Amino acid sequence: MQTYNIVVLKGDGIGPEIIDATLQVLEAVVKSTGNFQLDFHFHPAGAEHYRQTGVNMSAETFAACQEADAILKGPMGLPDVRNPDGTEAGILGGVLRRKLDLYANVRPVRLFPAVSSALAGKTAGDIDYVIVRENTEGMYFSRGQGEVSPEGVKDTILMTRAGTERIVRFAFTLARQRPGAPRDGVKRVTCVDKSNVLRSFALFRQVFQEVGEAYPDIAKDCLYADAAAQALVLWPEHFDVIVCENFLGDILSDLGAATAGGLGFCPGANLGAKHAVFETTHGSAPSLAGKNKANPIAAILAGAMMLDRLGEKAGGEQIVTAVETACREQMVWIDSDGCPIEGTKNVADAVVRQIEEAGGK
Ligand code: IPM
Ligand code: MN
Repeated sequence: MQTYNIVVLKGDGIGPEIIDATLQVLEAVVKSTGNFQLDFHFHPAGAEHYRQTGVNMSAETFAACQEADAILKGPMGLPDVRNPDGTEAGILGGVLRRKLDLYANVRPVRLFPAVSSALAGKTAGDIDYVIVRENTEGMYFSRGQGEVSPEGVKDTILMTRAGTERIVRFAFTLARQRPGAPRDGVKRVTCVDKSNVLRSFALFRQVFQEVGEAYPDIAKDCLYADAAAQALVLWPEHFDVIVCENFLGDILSDLGAATAGGLGFCPGANLGAKHAVFETTHGSAPSLAGKNKANPIAAILAGAMMLDRLGEKAGGEQIVTAVETACREQMVWIDSDGCPIEGTKNVADAVVRQIEEAGGK
């Protein structure tokens, strides 16, 4: 039987609660399928760890991450844990993404059944796209390296041809595996950039068009990022796969989440050739921590993406189907703050129940 080595970093704030919910769901899938094992290894990391030790992740933990088949990561960061330069000290996303060369940040934005959208009149099936965010360069290339002088600070945006080619190829490959855009069923990749203003983005668009020639079966379009922000609100059903630079992807994925029931429904995968980290799009929400108030669905769906990457496609689908059913049957009631009315644990139990019931059929 296949056993996968999974490093679990529970993180800060609501991290431990939503990761525990995810582990509960993953255990249910393992039990129901019975053809693979998950060997979880827990390591401390994040802002609280930084406060206690002066580093957000030890060398041993990083070595464990390098050895792992996959990493399941809770949100990290606490507002008062800062580097001397004022940036947050506890966040690990950038570190792991760059050090493990996790070049593709894959962020599905999907409105689930009976979940209310911030957009009037949108229902499940109208919003179902994936943001493919370049994860190692772009604006955040400057993370931790801005040039500071008494007059101001200079951050550098970097777009390489090779870095752009690989992310664009990733997006087209993903589009081939998807059913297409909700509006017309057309498999489509939309390039979002600011090539009207910056040369770096002009290169991004040029590479998109060049690489796109090898994918005649996929429709292509390009939008400036400001227009894309509008379009994602006005006609989200047009979108299938969006490919963009790091900073734009960061912003648009929160915008997209708002249209799909909130950040509590949006998972993310950070994928490289050798390594993979699965997390939520949202942060650690310290004000909700320890109150059984956080929506665990984003983390649970990140668990599904992890199984998919490990090659346990059926297991991943089992989780997504269970979440769909739990939503449709209104076991995931969300209040106006995005919190499940009946609590984190209740949502996890509902998803587990769906998995058990489907398995018993
Ligand atoms: C994200 C987050 C991170 C980012 C932060 C926490 C470092 O906003 O994953 O979207 O900037 O990428
Ligand atoms: Mn973000």
